[in-house]
Formats: sequence, C-alpha cells, structure tokens
Amino acid sequence: MLAKHTQSKTLLWLGRQLFNRENPAAFFDPLLERLNPMWVQAYTPARVEQVLEETSDTKTFVLRPADRWQGFEAGQHVNICAEVGGIRRTRTFSLSGSPILWQEQGLITLTIKRLAGGLVTNWLHDHLRIGAILGLGDAFGDFLIPEPAKPVLFIAGGSGITPILSQLETMPASDYAAPVTLLYFVRTPNDVIGEEKLRALAAHWSTLTLTIIYTHERATPRYLSEQDLETVPGIKAREVYLCGPKGLMDLANDLLHKQGISERNIHSTFFSAPQADLGDQALGGLVQFARSDVEVSSEGDANILQIAEAAGLSPRYGCRMGICHQCSCRKTSGTVINRLTGQTSGAGEESIQLCVSVPRGPISIDA
Ligand code: FES
Repeated sequence: MLAKHTQSKTLLWLGRQLFNRENPAAFFDPLLERLNPMWVQAYTPARVEQVLEETSDTKTFVLRPADRWQGFEAGQHVNICAEVGGIRRTRTFSLSGSPILWQEQGLITLTIKRLAGGLVTNWLHDHLRIGAILGLGDAFGDFLIPEPAKPVLFIAGGSGITPILSQLETMPASDYAAPVTLLYFVRTPNDVIGEEKLRALAAHWSTLTLTIIYTHERATPRYLSEQDLETVPGIKAREVYLCGPKGLMDLANDLLHKQGISERNIHSTFFSAPQADLGDQALGGLVQFARSDVEVSSEGDANILQIAEAAGLSPRYGCRMGICHQCSCRKTSGTVINRLTGQTSGAGEESIQLCVSVPRGPISIDA
C-alpha cells in the first residue's frame, strides 16, 4: 500500500497531467476532504488534540498539523481557515507555544480570545472540538526574538501576550542571559492569560522580571506610565517588543520615544491594521485585473482586495492587514497609496499588497 504522502503526490501529478491545471488541488481536494481531511492539499490540515480554558473568554487550542507543515519561529503568526456558515473563512492568529513543542511533539498552540461580534473567534470557541480539522497556512511575521546578548523589554496588553508567551518559553532554551522584563497589562486578575506558565518561568528563569498590572481594579483605570518604564533597569539599551490593543501600543510608543529609545529598537505587531491619514486625496479609479479580463471602476478608499472581491474575483489573501504578504501581486501600471504607511507608489511595475493598496487613478494588476 502506498504511504499517504506518496498517494497525495501521485494525485497531484495525475492532476497536472490530465487536466493541465496550475492548481490540481482545486480539483481533487473536495474528494480528498471526504476520504480523509488530512490529505487535502490546498492548505495543511491540523487536527485539534486538546482545548484548554485560559480565562472566561480565552481558550488555547492544541493542534497537530500534518507532517508537511514547515514549522515556525517564536513570535510568528499563522492563518487558519475554517468553514463557518458554509463559507471557508481565513483569520490570522499568533502561535502561543514554543517551536520546541512542535519540534519534539509535533504540536502547536493557538490561544484565542472571543471578540465581540467576531464571527470566526466565536465560532472557534463554540464549535471547535477535539478531533476537528482546521486548515493552516505557513507561519509568517518578523516579531522575532533578538540575539541572546541583547536586553529585552516586552510590553503586552490582554491577548497581546500570545506571541510573547511563545518567545518567553523559547528564550531559556537558547541560554538567553541578558535581562528580560515583561510588563503585562490586563483588566483584572481574572483576565491574565498563561498566568501559570508566566509565574513558573519567572520562578525558574532568573533573567526574567515579570510585572502584571491590573488596569481596571480601581475606579480610575491604571495605564502604562513613565514611572513603569523608569522601573526597568537600563531601559535605553533594551530591544522593546509591543503587542496589544492600539491604545496601549500608541501610548507605549510615545513614552518610549520620550525615553530616547530609537524607532529601530521598537518592534510591534498588531491585531488590526493601523490606518494612515490619507487626507483629502482623490482616491479610486479604473482597476484592470488583466489575467481575469475584468475591469472595474472604484471610488473612495476601498483597497484592491475589496475591489476584486466585489467584482466576483477571489484573489489569494491571509491576514487582510498587511502582515503576511499572501495577497502580493504585480501592479503593471498606475499608482496606489499604501493604507498602512500613507506612501504613494511609483507609476511602474512593482509588487503590491492588495489588502492595503488603494488605487489613485487607473491601474492594471496582473491577477
Ligand atoms: S492578506 Fe496579508 S498582507 Fe494582504
């Protein structure tokens, strides 16, 4: 009997030969999904092995991806796809466990908080059970731990702790000797995610100083302050890693700049895309999707991914917020504005991210 891997490869080869398709997975996957979801080729299937309650609104899902998944580095993210309400939907989450768990046991963890009105996060909480299969993309992101000689300050808010948990669990194994401080902001003691792990790390790894700050225990909220930063020894020499809600990230950036910490030593990752102020520029224009032979007129600040989908096209995408580059396409002519940076592109051929690019005048895309 052929091994599973060989069977999948043979089917791919047959697909290419018989149908001359660039993507035979699109032809065979519905059949494979019925036979065994772990054979599907369009994404890497991952089986839910365990579901752990972290807090009243946060769960950790322990997943076993199929062998072909490429692994990840601490601090990276992954796109998952799940069928919700009959539609396959993709969302981006941080990997919360250490890559060591993946290397030694073939397991990864996603720690996911319910979001008010969040279609996919709520579905995962309510319906994802042991034995279910999710689709996984490749890991991505550059929120990575620095050289072991550099002192680090992590500032996390709420579920922004998840990529930092992965980093903190990984650092002791690489003999990280420089000082590491974590300032972790949560609303109340009931909202601490990964508390047991964090306290165990702080108890056994003397390099780590852990401070958990409750923002809503008293009538007046308690946010990050200059005094908090002044408690961090040698703060000016630290590499700073920020992950949390936009309010905390903005405040932290302001206070860190006041401390004289350079932009290049501040590393951020975010949950929703920051939006540059585009002022009163005239946006929109005729968008030509050359390979699909579709032309569509756009107005206002809709990005090209939204314009393509409204025209019935299905470009590849992942995070929809400018992180993963899965939506990158060739622009062959015309000018776009980057929604994250506010920068205007050149008029010629270049790669752009559809999900954060807004046309300014007529453009042509190789899609
Ligand atoms: S979908 Fe991730 S960068 Fe566009």
